[in-house]
Amino acid sequence: MIGPMATRHIAVIPGDGVGPEVMAEALPVLAWARDRGRDLSWEVWPHGADHCLATGAILPETDFLRLRDGFDAILFGAVGDPRIPDGRHAEGILLRLRQELELGVNLRPCHPVLDAHLPLKGVPAGGVRIDVYRENTEGPYCLQGSSGPDRAEDVAVHTRPAVERLLRAAFEGARARGCGLTLAHKANVLKHGHGLWMAVFRELQDEFRVVPARGLHADALLCALVQDPRPFGVIAADNLFGDLVSDLLAAFQGGMGMAPSLSWAPHRPWRCTALAEPVHGSAPDLAGRAIANPTGMLLSLGLLFRHLGWEEEAGLLDASVATALQRGAATADLGGTLGTAEMGQALRAGLG
Ligand code: NAD
Ligand code: IPM
Ligand code: MN
Repeated sequence: MIGPMATRHIAVIPGDGVGPEVMAEALPVLAWARDRGRDLSWEVWPHGADHCLATGAILPETDFLRLRDGFDAILFGAVGDPRIPDGRHAEGILLRLRQELELGVNLRPCHPVLDAHLPLKGVPAGGVRIDVYRENTEGPYCLQGSSGPDRAEDVAVHTRPAVERLLRAAFEGARARGCGLTLAHKANVLKHGHGLWMAVFRELQDEFRVVPARGLHADALLCALVQDPRPFGVIAADNLFGDLVSDLLAAFQGGMGMAPSLSWAPHRPWRCTALAEPVHGSAPDLAGRAIANPTGMLLSLGLLFRHLGWEEEAGLLDASVATALQRGAATADLGGTLGTAEMGQALRAGLG
């Protein structure tokens, strides 16, 4: 474990598709933070589909250990490539990092900047501020199961330490914001796994009495969110439901290109305890066209700055992004004409 004043060493993994394109817009922000005096260095890693196809390597053990023990955080683009249809490299890189680094808490905030991005209701953007806390290591993502021609099974594993780790972070997040907490579940059907979630949830409700908390069936939650997202503050969910809810909320922010995320290991078992990545994937339909929206990528870096204790840089970056959006900076997904690089430049313009 390094001391608070040591250099923060960040592994940059741009990955596949639009990952490197949006990452190119985040690297100048790292340089800006360093130029402001933050003790920061970074190294770009090649792991992803091209590297896998060229070398056969996905994430060799020596690389994994160097990441775990030699870096403080990972800045991640996206993985996924049509040339690797079984997604084995995405599993071997992204899911492995989430699971083996025990990055059990995945924060996916929805803080829409523009009213126009809430087209369903004409709800003012300022009234919506939702933080999704997604469990990031378990559920069906354990990838256990079996399949034959007539029967297939995917096993979802839920363990008390992981459920408690996630729910505790969500309760703490809600308490810090002074808002309510909603647990998305289907304990009416998933009696075992979500039964455990409900049991741990009730225990923490007793501990965090100041937080108004309730469980809601996930299907009803989605309906309520679309009808009116304003009453929701923090939403806690297991890995799969958190994945689904966060894409719905990305739409409230303007689309997949807008939504940021940060994962971390609250128990800090080794040096590398955080990973920042946009919610979106490698968008093969956009890749190579230089039109992907880098906003989610930049906002993810802002979340990482905040996690590292660099509140000032995080605030300046958030403000710069918000100002650019309010002034109409927009890529094609937002109805605009800017390319990725022009959009990146606009989003960074307020950094000086
Ligand atoms: P996706 O997020 O890549 O794309 C979904 C839709 O959102 C597409 O229409 C795409 O054009 C749009 N979109 C995504 N990013 C955008 C951006 N930055 N700017 C503008 N529009 C954007 O999801 P998908 O199509 O389901 O998956 C594509 C690949 O990415 C798959 O291989 C999938 O497994 C992978 N994936 C990876 C991650 C990750 O690395 N964290 C996340 C999601 C999907
Ligand atoms: C995400 C993605 C991943 C997930 C895929 C690529 C495994 O959709 O980061 O949201 O399901 O977690
Ligand atoms: Mn997803």
